[in-house]
Amino acid sequence: MKDLQKVLISHGDSNAIHQIRDALAGGRYELEEASTAAETIEKLTAFHPDVVLADAGLKGMDGLGLMRHLASEPQPPLVVLITAKGLERTAVQALREGAHNFILWPFDAAELEAVTHNAVEQRRLLRENESYEEELQHALLRLRNSQAALVQAEKLGSMGKLVAGVAHELNTPLGALRSSTDTIERAARRLLAWARSQEPEIAGQVQPFIDILSTTAAQSKSACDRITGIVANLRQFAQLDRADLQRAHVHDSLESTLALLNHEFNSKVEVVKEFGDVPEIECSPRQLNQLFMNLLLNANEAIRQSGREQGVIRLRTWQQDDWLKIEISDNGVGISGKDMERIFDPGFTTKGGVKVGTGLGLPISYQIVKEHRGRIEVVSHPGQGSRFTIVLPLEQRL
Ligand SMILES: Nc1ncnc2c1ncn2[C@@H]1O[C@H](COP(=O)(O)OP(=O)(O)OP(=O)(O)O)[C@@H](O)[C@H]1O
Ligand SMILES: [Mg+2]
Repeated sequence: MKDLQKVLISHGDSNAIHQIRDALAGGRYELEEASTAAETIEKLTAFHPDVVLADAGLKGMDGLGLMRHLASEPQPPLVVLITAKGLERTAVQALREGAHNFILWPFDAAELEAVTHNAVEQRRLLRENESYEEELQHALLRLRNSQAALVQAEKLGSMGKLVAGVAHELNTPLGALRSSTDTIERAARRLLAWARSQEPEIAGQVQPFIDILSTTAAQSKSACDRITGIVANLRQFAQLDRADLQRAHVHDSLESTLALLNHEFNSKVEVVKEFGDVPEIECSPRQLNQLFMNLLLNANEAIRQSGREQGVIRLRTWQQDDWLKIEISDNGVGISGKDMERIFDPGFTTKGGVKVGTGLGLPISYQIVKEHRGRIEVVSHPGQGSRFTIVLPLEQRL
């Protein structure tokens, strides 16, 4: 059965209430009555009327006063004021203050029914509007979340491809460099063997060149080793050859991300590691790399913004029951209370200077942590620094 619309008749005269009930009989409305202002207010919470038919001269509070009171309710009912003939000015005033309509007493039954019906309909439409608006807000929120997720997937995908491409491109010249270094080394060794078979005078003349060749070859070799290390880090960062969800050590992710940021941090940022004895966890290392990259870059930028000569980024890991906690704290600018409410909103950034932010780092981080069924906690003191704590389950199916 369709829900009946609720009408509260608020009138000091029981005879009047009787007449109004008669006029509205016919089963279209659920009726309730109140004979004083206090009773009317009480019935607002108990009955939740859609429309109040209120006597302008109600006991305890006149109709206008009652109307003002009703307007302060969270979802106020519509008010139809009942006012005696000759008091039209009160009615006009009531309309100005937001009454839906008025009825002159004594009333015409058909008119009362028409005015009430109109009020009830308007109230229904208002309610419908409110719920559409709410739905719209929810849809908007869902859209923003999925947009952030899409951007994340896109960003992760293209970053992985870029890094993979760079690693691959580096491998070819690196191979060539290694092989020429080997050739120089071998030539130096043969030259040395030859020099030893010669007169000491000749050997003495050649020796400095052999030394130069050997030292240069050794330097090139160690440079090659460093490049090999960087390529390995890039590959580890992009996680090219590993499946998505696997058992991995977050320390490996942290270390490989730090290795990539080494150059960015240079001497201005000291990284202090307090790694606990923690187990491997079930996770997507590729995504965790991205998460740590976002948080470490933010920490570095916060330190630069603070103008501090020497910044510190502290990394702590420890296990608590079935959870792994990773804390990344910095002594940078910190986050104001007002900004704190928005830092996870896609597109929110306070970086508009030399380095422009896109405001996607934290929403992406949030998504990654959410996908791991974890959470992020943030504590920050403006001027002193911020602490981001990532809490991840050891297993994905707890
Ligand atoms: N460690 C931090 N210290 C101070 N403020 C921070 C920190 N981390 C985040 N914020 C604040 O949160 C905002 C949003 O961070 P988020 O990483 O999402 O975007 P961004 O760094 O501005 O841009 P990008 O998309 O390049 O990461 C930052 O602009 C900054 O105001
Ligand atoms: Mg950022």
